[in-house]
Amino acid sequence: MRKKIAAGNWKMNKTQSEAIELAGAIADVVIPDNTMVILGVPAVFISDVQTAVEGSAVQIAAQNCHQELSGAYTGEISASMLQSMGVEFVILGHSERREYFGESDELLAKKTNTALSQGLKVIFCCGEALPVREAGKHIDFVKNQLEKGLFHLGADDLDSIIIAYEPIWAIGTGVTASDEQAQEMHEAIRSMIEAKYDIETAAKMHILYGGSVKPSNATELFAQPDVDGGLVGGASLKASDFAAIIKA
Ligand code: PGA
Repeated sequence: MRKKIAAGNWKMNKTQSEAIELAGAIADVVIPDNTMVILGVPAVFISDVQTAVEGSAVQIAAQNCHQELSGAYTGEISASMLQSMGVEFVILGHSERREYFGESDELLAKKTNTALSQGLKVIFCCGEALPVREAGKHIDFVKNQLEKGLFHLGADDLDSIIIAYEPIWAIGTGVTASDEQAQEMHEAIRSMIEAKYDIETAAKMHILYGGSVKPSNATELFAQPDVDGGLVGGASLKASDFAAIIKA
């Protein structure tokens, strides 16, 4: 049985004291049975947030890592650093990383391998821009992203992957995919996994929806049979909103 997952993506927001306050407030939320809560926090605050959520079931994700384990890469953060800090997850392939930092499917495949080699679990993002959807090519587009970024892995490795479908046109725009649009894509992704691997692997995969998830739409979205929770940006920055999404 798949768990429901409420994952926050704080992006480049919050100061240290604000991060500690927000994490502390989330740690106090009563997490429903069969639900997992993950906070995707800025790397500089990981240690503070770990302290703030100590004793709770809240888990931590980094928002990126480098494809190499160490070396002369000024300013970068490695998967082994994250692992050494007890971080459980890393978000890879977010559309902002793909767009603003030129991260290709090939690079993301490498980053995924490196993260898994260090025992990190990966929240792997995919999703199409508006013109792709308007052309009716959204499913093919996402299939291509998954084939290049993820489907080189063996079925066992997929146990350490969570997929986040995040249509770019819905991120930070206030426009959410409809329940039907989300379900259509999530079902398609599950079928792709079944076709590439097998039915058990597909049935186990957690597939999150991201893109303007808020308290007012989370319940309906998460009620879709193939939607296993959300990756939440803006609404994860306010404790009361994220708490409502956790409940949803
Ligand atoms: P949003 O961001 O919830 O602010 O739309 C989601 C994301 O980018 O992960």
